[in-house]
Amino acid sequence: MIELKNICKSFILGGEEVKALDNVNFSVKKGEFVSIIGPSGSGKSTLMNILGLLDVADKGEYILDGTVIKNAKDNVLSEIRNKKIGFIFQNFNLLSKLNAVENVQVPLMYRGVQHEKSKKIAYEYLEKVGLKGREKHLPTQLSGGQQQRVAIARALARKARNNFGR
Ligand SMILES: Nc1ncnc2c1ncn2[C@@H]1O[C@H](COP(=O)(O)OP(=O)(O)O)[C@@H](O)[C@H]1O
Ligand SMILES: [Mg+2]
Repeated sequence: MIELKNICKSFILGGEEVKALDNVNFSVKKGEFVSIIGPSGSGKSTLMNILGLLDVADKGEYILDGTVIKNAKDNVLSEIRNKKIGFIFQNFNLLSKLNAVENVQVPLMYRGVQHEKSKKIAYEYLEKVGLKGREKHLPTQLSGGQQQRVAIARALARKARNNFGR
């Protein structure tokens, strides 16, 4: 569950204030799929950065699964991000030196899932997205669509945690 209350975010550029977000209010319930649409410059990326805990609002309240995100330190934000948020970036942001399995393993390893377990989960999720047989390929050896599916597997695999004891 995501809840935003009166979220404001401004940028100061050359002494001038740019109001990127001006009192944004909305909520997203569990299981809901939501798109954010709007013209270029309307604040979509700024909002996504705040939702994804990559940036913090100047004003207002952001409640993520009951946790009020406020003045949290970077390391706390990183931990919540690792547990709760799966990103699929426009350019996929796969790590170029790591193969498909290793890319999917990264967020799992960061949260302490043991190597063999995370590998098993990664293979399973790559199969789910139709990439069986491509596990050892580097991003450059995959098509754009395949790279995107690795990113999707990486985003989904985080959830596997509970089924694997950690
Ligand atoms: N780091 C920044 N510094 C100054 N202004 C910014 C910065 N990031 C975004 N803005 C301004 O905030 C507004 C919203 O930007 P953004 O969230 O990137 O829009 P969108 O993603 O909807 O195109 C724009 O006017 C943009 O110029
Ligand atoms: Mg944008």
